[in-house]
Amino acid sequence: MNMEMVQQHSGKINIVLHEQQRNQSIITSNEVMNHKKLRYIDTAFSDFIGLEHIKSMMKEIYALKHVNDEREQYGMKKNKQVLHMMFRGNPGTGKTTIARQVAQVLFELNVLSKGHFIEAERADIVGEYIGQTAQKTRSLIQKAQGGVLFIDEAYSLGRGGHKDFGREAIDTIVKQMEDYYEDFVLILAGYPEEMERFLYLNPGLRSRFAHHISFKDYTINELMQIARKMAEEKEYELTVGAEKEISNHLQQILYQNKIHFSNARYVRNIIEKSIRKQAMRLLTSDDITPVTIKQLIRDDIELS
Ligand SMILES: Nc1ncnc2c1ncn2[C@@H]1O[C@H](COP(=O)(O)OP(=O)(O)O)[C@@H](O)[C@H]1O
Ligand SMILES: [Mg+2]
Repeated sequence: MNMEMVQQHSGKINIVLHEQQRNQSIITSNEVMNHKKLRYIDTAFSDFIGLEHIKSMMKEIYALKHVNDEREQYGMKKNKQVLHMMFRGNPGTGKTTIARQVAQVLFELNVLSKGHFIEAERADIVGEYIGQTAQKTRSLIQKAQGGVLFIDEAYSLGRGGHKDFGREAIDTIVKQMEDYYEDFVLILAGYPEEMERFLYLNPGLRSRFAHHISFKDYTINELMQIARKMAEEKEYELTVGAEKEISNHLQQILYQNKIHFSNARYVRNIIEKSIRKQAMRLLTSDDITPVTIKQLIRDDIELS
């Protein structure tokens, strides 16, 4: 009788185990696939210093898209997933570079079908006579379907006063954002204060953006990491002296709190100028080796 019980027991357990195994294997493949995608997002943005919030946003977008796909399979309602983004930040904080990468990554994640990137400014949008602006705006948005339309300094659309066609562009954009939110991302970018004022030009504007991203000014530490990374990408390295020179200079600049300090772009300019200065130094040097040819030393750093 004991035996029977055991057998019965083990029979039951067996069934349970099988069930578990089956569920587990489904979970595992789902998990593995999604882990891969999440890792992909991390690596796609790994060349950028900081910007953790961008990675979180991309992961969130991917998660909702994934759940929507699953829900569709079960015949359930999909969640509306609006992808339009507003990027606010000072010059050189990475808005344009990140917007390009967002297009590529959303394509890889199957959120966008083409992943192309169209950059537009006021002149591409605002026409010269009545009706032309709406038409120009609509056709630009058509071209961007499946990808990203990036409008830099978007507030320039609202600059011309009441008679200007810029307002017509904004009204058209608001309408089109509502109509096209799947497989199309509109990213408006610009300085924080101007963007804030811009949002008041049309009451519907703010709520059309699912993602409002603030690009903070970089700290001295981040700027130095960016400098190292930029040098490294070009197969150069900064000596300790060179790093000190740059970091002292940046400290001074940040202390002065200049309004138009251009963050990572400023650092890129320093690195590029220094590479040219190093080349001049090496021209008359007898000491060119695989080591020295890579080194940017203190004297090479060009700050002006
Ligand atoms: N977080 C970052 N890490 C590394 N490089 C960066 C970062 N942010 C910006 N850059 C670099 O700085 C430069 C300016 O960036 P950009 O995207 O043009 O800034 P914005 O559009 O905000 O003015 C580019 O060369 C970009 O590659
Ligand atoms: Mg830019």
